[in-house]
Amino acid sequence: MKSHGKGLLGNIFREAEVDDQIDDGCIKGVLSNMVTAGFLSTKGALAGFFLLMLYYPEIQLRIQKEIDDNIDRNREPSLDDRAVMHYTNATILECLRFIGHVPFGVPHLTREEVEVDGMRIPANTMLITNLWVMNRSEKVWDKPGEFLPERFLDNEGKLLPKEHPIRLQFIPFGSGRRSCIGESFAKSRMFLYVTSLLQTFVLSPGKNKLPPLDPATWKPNVAMQPDFLNCLVRLRPERKIS
Ligand code: HEM
Ligand SMILES: *[C@@H]1O[C@H](CO)[C@@H](O)[C@H](O)[C@H]1NC(C)=O
Ligand SMILES: *[C@@H]1O[C@H](CO)[C@@H](O)[C@H](O)[C@H]1NC(C)=O
Repeated sequence: MKSHGKGLLGNIFREAEVDDQIDDGCIKGVLSNMVTAGFLSTKGALAGFFLLMLYYPEIQLRIQKEIDDNIDRNREPSLDDRAVMHYTNATILECLRFIGHVPFGVPHLTREEVEVDGMRIPANTMLITNLWVMNRSEKVWDKPGEFLPERFLDNEGKLLPKEHPIRLQFIPFGSGRRSCIGESFAKSRMFLYVTSLLQTFVLSPGKNKLPPLDPATWKPNVAMQPDFLNCLVRLRPERKIS
């Protein structure tokens, strides 16, 4: 195996010395890359998500209603439930847009000269996608500064299909052949965490001040997250029989 370039987080991915040979360094690199990329990215997304739930209790409540209506409280949520959970899905997507906690894509290198939008890019140029800017551009998003899960829903409250221009312009996992390999895993995990926790618990701000919602104030990193997250976790009240 020939590894192209260094790993996501610097030097942990060592260039294999001999082509077509996987050495220990390579295996260690791949594994630690997986753990770091896989764990820290999703941890940041979930911390951001639950912080948003503290700021927007009405959105938390709406997800809980969708859970009650489609899953109820008597069984664990499963991935099959995603097919009908439009609002929850939209909130997860909007969370990824709003917190933009993976601000840059992985660096890529041009193999040959290319022209993009009239700009000449020479061979061997390192290119980094600026996901941070894309997420907040006024050109692309209506009211980018607001947290609006509805932007991913149509008039009937159904999640916009993947081919919809709004979905197509949204690339928190990068794009192309080297986009994030963990996208579906990350989305599955987020769905299960969110639904399992909100099925049973209500989260509300604790006594201390909440960390700021604006990710621009979070510590810059490959995957960012709020500095801390303290909240009150209570059992949800029984469902009223009406
Ligand atoms: C919310 C969670 C996640 C976000 C926002 C995210 C985002 C990204 C982005 C933006 C890239 C760069 C793509 C590009 O340069 O075009 C990437 C690459 C990558 N991600 Fe993720 N990721 C997440 C979760 C995961 C998980 C769970 C895993 C592993 C199980 C993972 C493994 C990787 C790997 C290995 C790459 C490098 C792929 C390559 O170069 O071919 N990521 N991710
Ligand atoms: C929600 O997203 C998942 C993939 O992330 C998909 O399998 C599911 O069908 C989506 N649900 C809806 C209602 O579109
Ligand atoms: C994404 O957009 C929201 C709304 O403008 C903004 O608050 C947030 O800081 C942005 N995140 C990134 C990573 O640009």
